[in-house]
Amino acid sequence: MLGRSLTLFFSSLLFSVVVVASQCSVTGLPLVRNISEIPLDNYGRGGLSHITIAGSVLHGMKEVEVWLQTFSPGSRTPIHRHSCEEVFVVLKGSGTLYIASSHGKHPGKPQEHFIFSNSTFQIPVNDVHQVWNTNEHEDLQVLVIISRPPVKVFIYEDWFMPHTAARLKYPYYWDEQCFQAPVKDEL
Ligand SMILES: *[C@@H]1O[C@H](CO)[C@@H](O)[C@H](O)[C@H]1NC(C)=O
Ligand SMILES: *[C@@H]1O[C@H](CO)[C@@H](O)[C@H](O)[C@H]1NC(C)=O
Repeated sequence: MLGRSLTLFFSSLLFSVVVVASQCSVTGLPLVRNISEIPLDNYGRGGLSHITIAGSVLHGMKEVEVWLQTFSPGSRTPIHRHSCEEVFVVLKGSGTLYIASSHGKHPGKPQEHFIFSNSTFQIPVNDVHQVWNTNEHEDLQVLVIISRPPVKVFIYEDWFMPHTAARLKYPYYWDEQCFQAPVKDEL
């Protein structure tokens, strides 16, 4: 009896290891995938739905990474910056892009831009920005492409926080589960 439950215990342990490994690697993924069947999560952020369509940590992408994100009315990204290029394509809904340059000691009052379905915008490297679904009637859905993954995000509590005080979040929320620190070259 004990032997049997131990076997059960170890085989379920083995099973969960195998499942985690397959979530974190490309092997076995079909070439063409149905986006509706890719896992989505809010990573602890209310109102967010994030899908990593093609990722560095998850799929071994080297130069770019692609996300599909949906923000429910009122939800938003943190105020943040990263030293990569970023392109947005708004698929649905509308909202506001807040953006400030990285010059000076702190971002300061951001510029505001209306973003809308079928609009696109690019975030210059290191500019501090926030995307906010300010439309109270509709979800905001964006396709996001970043360069140089995995993303290293510096988060600000407000627009007047000094750049040097912004908090590094790395690996970022959706990279945490599969992230492995690069192997150090000892030579
Ligand atoms: C993609 O997945 C959704 C949800 O499972 C399903 O309804 C749809 O039929 C799928 N599309 C194709 C072409 O298989
Ligand atoms: C977005 O704009 C392109 C170019 O005009 C157009 O072909 C496409 O139908 C538009 N898509 C939507 C969803 O409006």
